[in-house]
Amino acid sequence: MGKIAQRYLDVDPWKIIETGFHEKQAVVSESLFSLSNEYMGVRGFFDEGYPKESLIGTYFNGIYEIPKNIQRSHYKGISDKSHYMVNAANAFYTRIFVGDEMFVFNPNNISDYKRELDLKTGEQTRSYQVKDLFKITFKRILNMTTYQVSHQNIKIEPIHYQGQMSIQIGIDFRTKHWGKPGFWDVKAYGNGYALGYTTTNQSLFSRYNLDVNTSYQSQINFKGRLNIETINFNLNKPVIIQKTIVSLIDKKGEKSIDTYLEESSKLLNHASYEKTYQDNQLFYQNYFSENDILIEGDPENQQGIRYCLFQLVNTYLGVSEENNIGAKGLTGEAYSGHAFWDSETYCVPVYLFTNPKAAKNLLMFRYNTLKQAKKRAQELDCKGACYPIATLNGDEACDLWQHASLQFQPSSAVAYAIWHYVKNTKDIDFMLNYGFEMLVEIARFFSSRGQYNQDQTKFGYYGVMGPDEFQMMVNHNAYTNLLAKESMFWMIDVYETYQNQPQIQKVVQNLGLTTSEIEVMKKQCELMYIPYDEKTKIYEQHEGFHDLPHIDIHSIPVTDFPLYAHWSYDRIYRNDMIKQPDVLMFMFLFNQRFDIETKKANYDYYEPKTIHESSLSPSIHSIFASELGYKKQALEFFRFATRMDLDDYNRNTKEGLHLTSIAAAWVNIVYGFGGLRSDGNILKLAPYCPDTWKSYQFNFHYFDSNIRVYVNPKEITLTLDQDLKEPLMIYDKAYHLKKGMTTIHVGN
Ligand code: BGC
Repeated sequence: MGKIAQRYLDVDPWKIIETGFHEKQAVVSESLFSLSNEYMGVRGFFDEGYPKESLIGTYFNGIYEIPKNIQRSHYKGISDKSHYMVNAANAFYTRIFVGDEMFVFNPNNISDYKRELDLKTGEQTRSYQVKDLFKITFKRILNMTTYQVSHQNIKIEPIHYQGQMSIQIGIDFRTKHWGKPGFWDVKAYGNGYALGYTTTNQSLFSRYNLDVNTSYQSQINFKGRLNIETINFNLNKPVIIQKTIVSLIDKKGEKSIDTYLEESSKLLNHASYEKTYQDNQLFYQNYFSENDILIEGDPENQQGIRYCLFQLVNTYLGVSEENNIGAKGLTGEAYSGHAFWDSETYCVPVYLFTNPKAAKNLLMFRYNTLKQAKKRAQELDCKGACYPIATLNGDEACDLWQHASLQFQPSSAVAYAIWHYVKNTKDIDFMLNYGFEMLVEIARFFSSRGQYNQDQTKFGYYGVMGPDEFQMMVNHNAYTNLLAKESMFWMIDVYETYQNQPQIQKVVQNLGLTTSEIEVMKKQCELMYIPYDEKTKIYEQHEGFHDLPHIDIHSIPVTDFPLYAHWSYDRIYRNDMIKQPDVLMFMFLFNQRFDIETKKANYDYYEPKTIHESSLSPSIHSIFASELGYKKQALEFFRFATRMDLDDYNRNTKEGLHLTSIAAAWVNIVYGFGGLRSDGNILKLAPYCPDTWKSYQFNFHYFDSNIRVYVNPKEITLTLDQDLKEPLMIYDKAYHLKKGMTTIHVGN
């Protein structure tokens, strides 16, 4: 595999624990201890400031910057980095003064450092002792249901120091973006509040109130973009300062200060740390009772998968159609907050089987941004709609032209997700009202971007980049060709099945879809070239892949990772090393179309060449390893996928969590060990228990039933909260499951 774990956290089933301060991992910890609630996200930075490298990051879903002075390319179709998520105000700003001297965190002067994240409440606690003077404890929590509310709790307990102390707390709009000065313009401020605007006129209003358990004098000080309140008190007993913060945003920047003040007052009046703690307890109790994954006999993976479940629900609950899932969620600035094809490919399956409304909302995001995808297709001299490789608002925002212009898997991922969603929910209304229109435009894009070879025997895509981003400008990438063919086919299929429905007729009329256009597509589908060798059963990733110079990936030292930071950019394109599954990716999406020999031949050929530079890679390999009986490898890849961030496998967790691979970890256990297959006409399960586990349990939602699946080496037990409306294939037998428990012996 080439990558190794960098373990420094304690293992616990319900907590993430850092015992002792790990300076080398300080920024990794900032990412790991991030909290979010879809609306906003806060990295686990030090409230009191940290003198070395740190990313003080607070982010709001949908608050982004459009740089004013973009140097537009002279070349048509080359995209510019058009927008990116901005770092917002730090409402946890704190500075501590002992007497007149500012306390600066220094690992040599502190002891008993401990940080914990409680996955049952979303409360983060960090404490340490400063010499033998005093002990300090910071707590932080974001309300999971009243999204605008968060809290900071600071407790100072005297040991040998008794005397004057000051704590500055405030709202800091000076936060940096990618290390450069931020853009916030603070237009209004007052006691305990500040209102800032981005250059694109989106606004953020931050306001707090305080509850202090001792008498104190307070002094307010406005320093431009920093709004500080200094609290002076005498430390002669434990002092607790509770700060309740309300953060309100307006994406259009139209809300007046009075409206903000009124709205925030209402929220502040009803908020308290204790209330949020209780709200969250209930929230996580409900969440885990429906979604928990239990692993008996493997504490590290148990912690890993729970952490994934926790961060998953922190990032996206399906609250709004306007939100999507950034590759780093709301935990860092890498990838600029952008959503990728990851949402449809790795996240939709999770939500489809845990929270179908959220899956639909992710698709609605694409429907609502169809207009921009059509514009992008035009920029690329094509018809129809080309969905962006990276986006927050629907526009293409990737400034690497080779990705933005050559990768089409976002478009086919949208088509796949529509097909996959409707297949598993029978939400025909969605297909008629929204899905079909997207399919028509995506099919048109693929029809117009594809080309025939000179003797007109092969149709396909020249000059593309498939999911494996280590191969650029290739011809006949098997993934791209196959997915394009399917996308066109799905559109034709829906058209032919539902052409008498008024919604379909309306779309056909509005978009001017003609039968001759459909005939052209049918011919293209028929001649779509998928490079394949019948003798070896191997699909060639793209024409010419087999001849590329070979590199032994195990010869690459671990210090070279991530490769993008250590190898010259062109060097990674010149050999047969693979970043992430490409052939295996389409075999995953259409798993049931390929026989086991074909899957084995391709896995055995491609896996040894794969470096997993993309965090999305290990989970797919684990699923295949399970299916092929490579059980040890399946577990190794699962650990890699599940503890990707906790153990910093890819050495870049400090930039933010790999949120979409966190979704892939769910897919890993459910499709891998659980054997779920959702690409056929009947949903299938074929669970097995990894050799070193005693048992495991997962849940999924299907046609209004919640299904709990418990697996041990001998049997599986399914517990349903109501009769299942659809049949379910378990191993090779179809079951009509009823409410209650059904036990099946493994192998029967
Ligand atoms: C992967 C892409 C992915 C992106 C965001 C890249 O490293 O190669 O497939 O969409 O990360 O997760």
